[in-house]
Amino acid sequence: MTEQFEYYKTIREQYVARGVGNGNLHVADTASGATIKDIEGNTFIDFAGAIGTLNVGHTHPEITKHLKEQLDKFIHPGFNVIMYESYLKLAQKLAEITPGNFAKKSILLNSGAEAVENAVKIARKYTGRQAVVSFVRGFHGRTNLTMSMTSKVRPYKYGFGPFAPEVYQAPYPNVSEKPNTLSNAEYVDQVIQKLHDFFIETVDPSEVACIVMEPVQGEGGFIIPDRKFVQAVKAICESNGIVFVADEIQTGFARTGKTFAIEHFDVEPDLMTVSKSLAAGFPLSGVVGKAEIVDSANPGELGGTYAGNPLACEAALKVIEIIEKEQLNEKAETLGHNIEQFLQELTHTYDSIGPIRRLGAMVAMEIINPETGEPDKVLTSKIVKTANEHGLLLLSAGIKGNVIRFLAPLVITDDELNTGLKILQDAFAKVASTQPS
Ligand SMILES: Cc1ncc(COP(=O)(O)O)c(C=O)c1O
Repeated sequence: MTEQFEYYKTIREQYVARGVGNGNLHVADTASGATIKDIEGNTFIDFAGAIGTLNVGHTHPEITKHLKEQLDKFIHPGFNVIMYESYLKLAQKLAEITPGNFAKKSILLNSGAEAVENAVKIARKYTGRQAVVSFVRGFHGRTNLTMSMTSKVRPYKYGFGPFAPEVYQAPYPNVSEKPNTLSNAEYVDQVIQKLHDFFIETVDPSEVACIVMEPVQGEGGFIIPDRKFVQAVKAICESNGIVFVADEIQTGFARTGKTFAIEHFDVEPDLMTVSKSLAAGFPLSGVVGKAEIVDSANPGELGGTYAGNPLACEAALKVIEIIEKEQLNEKAETLGHNIEQFLQELTHTYDSIGPIRRLGAMVAMEIINPETGEPDKVLTSKIVKTANEHGLLLLSAGIKGNVIRFLAPLVITDDELNTGLKILQDAFAKVASTQPS
């Protein structure tokens, strides 16, 4: 390691909160597409995309050029103080591109957690009820309410109580955990039955304001539910006056091969939370949904000083254009397919690769102990660390920490992809044992 690396590492250790995690301790200098260069001239292929924030890639030239021009106009008049066009146009665009042929409205905010908080506020105001249902293995953020809705105890909740009241976690299927004695269909039916039981055993549906569901669980390990399950959740909402909130913060904006993952399940949410890849790396989030629900909050009851920053809104408008122009939904499907093929090949050499899951370019593989079939968090960390040390930004996920997830920009070139996959393969070769021949 160079002197410069050691210098920044020392500053990081001395002045930056320990509670902030770092997957990689190099210092970024420039980035474009799916490549980041650090200040020492090292190159990294980016399979993390700032945790799913960069579906259009780093510094997309159209966005960068446009924002440089915008910067000269104004930085932040504050939408609560005076309106600006980009906020208005983005609210209109979100109404157009989200599923559901009904009148829609939006509020724009900053972070994913803030969007989820606001979706819950709106649902409570609309229904006059207090209870919130999220799902086991779900992730919705780190504020008090969203942390309470989140499932994984360490590192998200441990020592941070007391948690928000009236938050309940319902079962969510994971076919990778299905008992061998059941078919997929039987298993899904069983989880749907458990969901119905949950509303008898845990909370009465008449007291529930909203059910907040990730259409594919992100931090939970890219768990793809059966369509029948998602539709069962929606049906419970409809028959009990519960607001269905799709949390599309990680899944939205072409990641799964459709603009929003919920479209795979033929369900129209009442409200949707959006963020991450919405604005190509700018802090921006929103709640979009049925106008009558969104409008249950009175003027002044929702908002925030920086909410709906104009540069972020301009970036988002460009992102939505680029998704269509560059056919990112189609690209997501091809990219996901290519990564999946590669991982399937790798299973012939490494018996520590468990289930591989994919919806569009949301791809994940589990790392297991081949003898016991149990999740292997230690080996997962070793693979991820080795990849990071050799030029690949890679993330883990999963309630048991044994999932490697792929969130590469959808604009990644074949060269970048192949380089990244080769680094991953080399990381396996360094730390994982091969199949017995
Ligand atoms: C599904 C989902 N909801 C909410 C959040 C929270 O977003 P933020 O970290 O911007 O608060 C995340 C972040 O990973 C997420 O994946």
